[in-house]
Amino acid sequence: MLILSCPSKLRLLEGMLWRGLPDTLPVYGTVMHVNRGNPAGQEVLMDSWPEFKMVLTRPRREVARDPSDFFTNLYTAFYRDEGACRALLGNSRAVDWGQAFQILGLQDGVYETIRDIARARGLEMEMYPHRPLLHPDPPAMPQDRPDRGLRLASVSPAHAMLLRDTWMFGGTSWSLRYLSLLIRHFPNACLLDPEGTPISWSLTDPLATLTQGYTLPEHRGQHHLRSVVGTLAAQLHARGFPVYTGVLPHNEPSLHALQCLGFRILPGVFYQLVLSLKVRRRLQKT
Ligand SMILES: CC(C)(COP(=O)(O)OP(=O)(O)OC[C@H]1O[C@@H](n2cnc3c(N)ncnc32)[C@H](O)[C@@H]1OP(=O)(O)O)[C@@H](O)C(=O)NCCC(=O)NCCS
Repeated sequence: MLILSCPSKLRLLEGMLWRGLPDTLPVYGTVMHVNRGNPAGQEVLMDSWPEFKMVLTRPRREVARDPSDFFTNLYTAFYRDEGACRALLGNSRAVDWGQAFQILGLQDGVYETIRDIARARGLEMEMYPHRPLLHPDPPAMPQDRPDRGLRLASVSPAHAMLLRDTWMFGGTSWSLRYLSLLIRHFPNACLLDPEGTPISWSLTDPLATLTQGYTLPEHRGQHHLRSVVGTLAAQLHARGFPVYTGVLPHNEPSLHALQCLGFRILPGVFYQLVLSLKVRRRLQKT
């Protein structure tokens, strides 16, 4: 196991991951951000270099200070060999199993390995099986103009509370801290009403995934998300990032809105696995 910290090697890795798209997407997006200022303080672990069978990104020790904060304790994984995947994810020097964390990846082996290790350790794991969507040609995306009186803008840190209160994972101090990080350091866009209040928005995260897409309930069904995502996609594309996201399978409005913009659903599952510090009930009783 090694930590890849040399900037020229990290740039080479970015090229290798690019050639492995789309399976490499969350790791590729993370390595792109690591190579462009690394605002989330991530580091890149590999089984070996330059030939590799497994890449894991994780927060630096000084970033992952709060053992309960699974938003900040964010990992991504890509493997070429399932044995190497099991070996690295099971290595307690690579993954801190004493902390709550989340891990994202597009390969079944990541899910199966994390599930098996969590079971063996008696830890609770929540699995969110998103459908992966990628835009094949962002410049061709229709650019909807906002309706009269509305204007496109960046999300401001002052909006973090509103975003937290409308988010399914909101309601904690960790979610507010995480949203503030995203707003300050990663591309985003929103649509403001005449009073300057956001009515629709989308952020991106340390993986360069489109995330937090939301329209206030009273403004839904008016295609507001389209102009927000169109603007954000143009920003991402101009900076060389892929334009991709994950949507839960039952979220028809979101899948529909994104497909209208030209996103394609990729085969497979974009796994989001959340490991809390809760011990599974069956084991607690024994
Ligand atoms: C998904 C979401 C962001 C879509 O935002 P939006 O601004 O309403 O987007 P659109 O107007 O393009 O709506 C998309 C589709 O949803 C449907 N829809 C959703 N809510 C609606 C409502 N209240 N009234 C009418 N239609 C609605 C429509 O069928 C529309 O399709 P259309 O193009 O045929 O009209 C919004 O429903 C939302 O915030 N949902 C909760 C959070 C969420 O699920 N976020 C996405 C996470 S991936």
